[in-house]
Amino acid sequence: MAQTNGLEGVVAAETELSLVDGEKGELVYRGYVAQDLAKSRSFEEVAYLLWYGRLPDPAETARLVDAFKARRQLPDRVRTLIDSLPADHDMMSVLRTALSALASPRPWPPARDDAAHYAALIPEIIAFRQARLQGREPLRSDPTLSHVANYLYLLTGQKPADEHVRALEAYLILTMEHGMNASTFAARVVTSTQSDMASALTAALGAMKGPLHGGAPSGVIDMLEQIGSPESAEAWLRKKLSADHRLMGFGHRVYKTNDPRARALRDIVAQMADKDAWFHLATHVEETAVRLLEEYKPGRRLYTNVEYWAATILRAVEIPKSLYTATFSLSRTVGWTAHILEQAENNRLIRPQSVYVGALPQGAAKATE
Ligand SMILES: CC(C)(COP(=O)(O)OP(=O)(O)OC[C@H]1O[C@@H](n2cnc3c(N)ncnc32)[C@H](O)[C@@H]1OP(=O)(O)O)[C@@H](O)C(=O)NCCC(=O)NCCS
Repeated sequence: MAQTNGLEGVVAAETELSLVDGEKGELVYRGYVAQDLAKSRSFEEVAYLLWYGRLPDPAETARLVDAFKARRQLPDRVRTLIDSLPADHDMMSVLRTALSALASPRPWPPARDDAAHYAALIPEIIAFRQARLQGREPLRSDPTLSHVANYLYLLTGQKPADEHVRALEAYLILTMEHGMNASTFAARVVTSTQSDMASALTAALGAMKGPLHGGAPSGVIDMLEQIGSPESAEAWLRKKLSADHRLMGFGHRVYKTNDPRARALRDIVAQMADKDAWFHLATHVEETAVRLLEEYKPGRRLYTNVEYWAATILRAVEIPKSLYTATFSLSRTVGWTAHILEQAENNRLIRPQSVYVGALPQGAAKATE
């Protein structure tokens, strides 16, 4: 039973999209170190790399930027649908429903154009819903702004500071793609049935919503808010660990050393001009948690994961906590769609087996005795 538990170590696909080396703490997108891409490339350029297999030249980048801009309008029927959802629907549920409604009949196999279509519309859905919740008129996208800058603009109504755009863009690039994680696997399974891209993305969003996957960053902020000050950290963490609670933002199925994305994001926060006491608190809690995890869970090799510092970046660029998982989905949509295209290109139905460990009919049970 333990061997099948969580499919740990099971290879489910061959991919050219990313290499996640959990022992060395390395993340590579199509031959490029993800941290390097996050430092030097735009969201659109890295999306192009994942979808097309190579980095774009300036003309190709411009075309993709324009393709995103041209698709930024939510159809009225989707706006009406979003408005019909109860106010207590969390943003991931809104995203899942709206994305599903954006689907139009598309022939198999899915195309790269479809990938750009959904990726361009995710920020529109989030920002539209958020404006409605705040009782203000949703803004129209600004055609002069890039994908990431426009997302911040739609949320705040102000042209964002360059420093905020770069920090958020680095986060979004670093979380765009990550091998056979739960949501990507869900997307590939749905695609393998020759279903459409919207259905595969809807399944991925459902998986992403769970606290063990994409729901962790808001848990990190809750934890840091409850701890409040560095002096309280050790006692608070010990209490949680003694009660066998999980610390959000620590541990990873694949990384058994530092998550390279967490380090890259930490460096970005450290360089931000407006970092505050929060950064000091986050650094102290990280150090204490890693030390205590080794004490309470010796040998499990639990380190900081991407969600820990993601939470701090998202807070620094003033994205509300309720939008963290949806914002993560905004970037991962690129990875999901790249996997959907890759699966479709060389498709075979994904259909594993289960081992029956239940009761047998009485006659059969006798027959085996
Ligand atoms: C990410 C995660 C789900 C990976 O889980 P996994 O590979 O299934 O690991 P397991 O659940 O088998 O955990 C192995 C051991 O480490 C412990 N552990 C794992 N993550 C832990 C955490 N964050 N805090 C405390 N203990 C943790 C488990 O309790 C288990 O202990 P045991 O051996 O005494 O039973 C897990 O580390 C976790 O829940 N982290 C917190 C949520 C989070 O940050 N998610 C974002 C991931 S990017």
